[in-house]
Amino acid sequence: VPESAGEQRRVLLAAPRGYCAGVDRAVVTVEKALELYGPPVYVRKEIVHNKHVVRTLEKRGAIFVEETDEVPEGARVIFSAHGVSPAVHAEARALSLRTIDATCPLVTKVHREAIRFAGEDYTILLVGHTGHEEVEGTAGEAPENTIVVENPEHAAVVEVPNPEKLAWLSQTTLSVDETMQTVAILRERFPHLQDPPSDDICYATQNRQVAVKQMAAECDLMIVVGSQNSSNSKRLVEVALEHGSRDGHLVDYADEIDEAWLDGVSTVGVTSGASVPEVLVRDVLDWLAERGYADVSAVTAAEESLLFALPTELRRDLKAAG
Ligand code: F3S
Repeated sequence: VPESAGEQRRVLLAAPRGYCAGVDRAVVTVEKALELYGPPVYVRKEIVHNKHVVRTLEKRGAIFVEETDEVPEGARVIFSAHGVSPAVHAEARALSLRTIDATCPLVTKVHREAIRFAGEDYTILLVGHTGHEEVEGTAGEAPENTIVVENPEHAAVVEVPNPEKLAWLSQTTLSVDETMQTVAILRERFPHLQDPPSDDICYATQNRQVAVKQMAAECDLMIVVGSQNSSNSKRLVEVALEHGSRDGHLVDYADEIDEAWLDGVSTVGVTSGASVPEVLVRDVLDWLAERGYADVSAVTAAEESLLFALPTELRRDLKAAG
């Protein structure tokens, strides 16, 4: 137990945290596909951005590939929760792959918005991170019509072909506040800018950020469980620091926590990204309890009950198999 820790050691545990409906569906899709068809089942990209989930599914017989052309002709491949562009679907057809699309329905919704705006000749300013799989997929719906806008600084300088026909969309896992800043700058520069028909940043991303905001000012340290390539998890660390947590770190596993982080710390906040299984959070809570942080109280920002049906292709085969 660190000597310098405050008198009172406690943990504030964010709710909601961890799995969202889209991640749950994607992970169950791979599990059921392995049970139904037997290994190997190929998965294009990490099914969700979490190291532990990927390792666990690999042990059960999933084979993760970067690109569709690494999948043997005629084999079965699952597309990840982040979505794919039409070019990837076409590639899969050319290789006669049997595809199961585990794209989160809330990402598919953004794809549809992109198709509609592009169909009406709008230029789409897609707020998001270049190189992130979701952005590649969404931009791929209308590559000629899409410009990715990274952040407020980029919004201040981005050039567009026709300021009269302009719409913005976003990646589903961004910081709500930063996205609003980005859009405010775009709107100031381009008053005709059209909004998406509904929020693109998904309910899960929003709720996890709201919970962190509610507790951050009371926290000396925020531990976010999540992987480095998980956009929504990284945003949680940023939101914590912006809203008053003295320190904050992203860890995949409890054993990555550095004891030195606890120096002088009385309140530790704990949360997890939308791709993180609860068992990893339990491990962090156990690790903290062993060091005197056993008093855990929940900070609940919202109740979530959304569930998505499994992909149609899989449901059909599950039904046929009885
Ligand atoms: Fe979908 Fe949001 Fe989760 S877009 S995969 S519900 S983080």
